[in-house]
Amino acid sequence: MVEPHNAHIDRADSGDVPALARILEQAYQHIHGAHLDLSRLQHAPRETVIQSTLASRVHAMHVAKCEGEVIGFASFGPQPVAGLGYARRVAELGLLAVREDCRGNGVGQALFESVLARLREQPSVEKLILWVESDNSSARAFYGKMGMTPTQEREQPGNRIRTAGAPPCKETRYELSLGGDNS
Ligand SMILES: CC(C)(COP(=O)(O)OP(=O)(O)OC[C@H]1O[C@@H](n2cnc3c(N)ncnc32)[C@H](O)[C@@H]1OP(=O)(O)O)[C@@H](O)C(=O)NCCC(=O)NCCS
Repeated sequence: MVEPHNAHIDRADSGDVPALARILEQAYQHIHGAHLDLSRLQHAPRETVIQSTLASRVHAMHVAKCEGEVIGFASFGPQPVAGLGYARRVAELGLLAVREDCRGNGVGQALFESVLARLREQPSVEKLILWVESDNSSARAFYGKMGMTPTQEREQPGNRIRTAGAPPCKETRYELSLGGDNS
């Protein structure tokens, strides 16, 4: 059993992929619960999703490691803008997840702060946003503690890892001003 409060934050590398895939699956289970269709995950393997983030020139992934084990990650990058590529001034947190048995020990907060520190090195980035499933009350409480404010709701009609006939996901947008030079 690792001591999660001793975790340190690093950039993810390809050796981390198997552990990241397991944490990603736990996160999907937490987020989608009974609506998660595990058979559909086999058609969109977690390893592929993670490898493409690691290979990306615009996205980044930080990992929390403890005694050599990966116990959490945060993926982030510039906010995509339909038809226009990416926003220059807005960063988006894609997913932040901590291994189930390590939650509640400050690991999520350490990852979140590492993302903020990285973004604050880029003076053009003014704010961080994210979308979280509106019924993910623990994540919403966490982001509230991190100083983020809910600003908007949307309904996502389809999600390829949810069971056929599952209700559409409602998502809430959160944002945090980074207080940079341009805000
Ligand atoms: C959300 C998540 C990343 C939080 O990580 P964590 O390591 O457990 O959180 P921390 O221990 O760093 O908590 C930081 C603060 O948030 C609060 N918080 C964390 N989880 C909470 C919960 N379930 N309910 C209320 N507050 C919570 C903590 O109390 C703490 O505040 P405090 O210092 O004042 O006590 C983790 O629960 C997780 O992996 N969830 C599953 C995946 C997910 O839903 N990710 C978000 C979707 S984008």
